[in-house]
Amino acid sequence: MVISLVAGALWAMLPAYVPNNVAVLAGGGRPIDAGRTVGGRRLLGDGKTWRGTAAGTLAGVALALVLNAVRPSVATAFGVSLPSFPLRAAVGLALGAMLGDIGASLLKRRIGRERGAAVPGLDQLDFVGGALLLTLLLAPSWTLSTFTPARLVVVLVATPLLHVVTNAGAYLLGLKTEPW
Ligand code: CTP
Ligand code: MG
Repeated sequence: MVISLVAGALWAMLPAYVPNNVAVLAGGGRPIDAGRTVGGRRLLGDGKTWRGTAAGTLAGVALALVLNAVRPSVATAFGVSLPSFPLRAAVGLALGAMLGDIGASLLKRRIGRERGAAVPGLDQLDFVGGALLLTLLLAPSWTLSTFTPARLVVVLVATPLLHVVTNAGAYLLGLKTEPW
């Protein structure tokens, strides 16, 4: 019961979790804001690039398709119920995660935080907010039936923990310049 709840919640969010990590690996090149500044501060900063955003989004969508393919066997093997992803939901989760993270950078630059500065809470949940919002727009009924209140609670509790652990890991591996 609890296992099924946690498994279902994390499974539903996987296409939103992966884009940020892929962006870290694939990032670089032209920044989205092309160096533009607003009031002396960068619009987004060098940490938001076209390449990272595109690679992250594609990876999230591709992962959703892989999850769709393996879902029946995984669900049977572990005796849990897992959601499948219509394409619109996959795009919503992956692109929404990237847009949420970009939105947070926009906000961080406006409040004077330089690229890489940590804003606890925002850093861990920006992509969840973006993913849920865009998915709600692109696939409303799928989103409402997939993200039940119980699953949402699991997502809001587990995501910050997972985020902290994976980013600390990426930092220790030398893939990221800050541990958040
Ligand atoms: N990245 C990217 N494009 C994105 C998101 C991330 O290229 N849309 C890459 C960048 O190389 C970035 C790294 O992933 O430096 C880490 O991402 P993140 O922590 O989100 O960016 P920061 O550099 O910390 O910048 P910010 O303060 O704006 O979050
Ligand atoms: Mg950062």
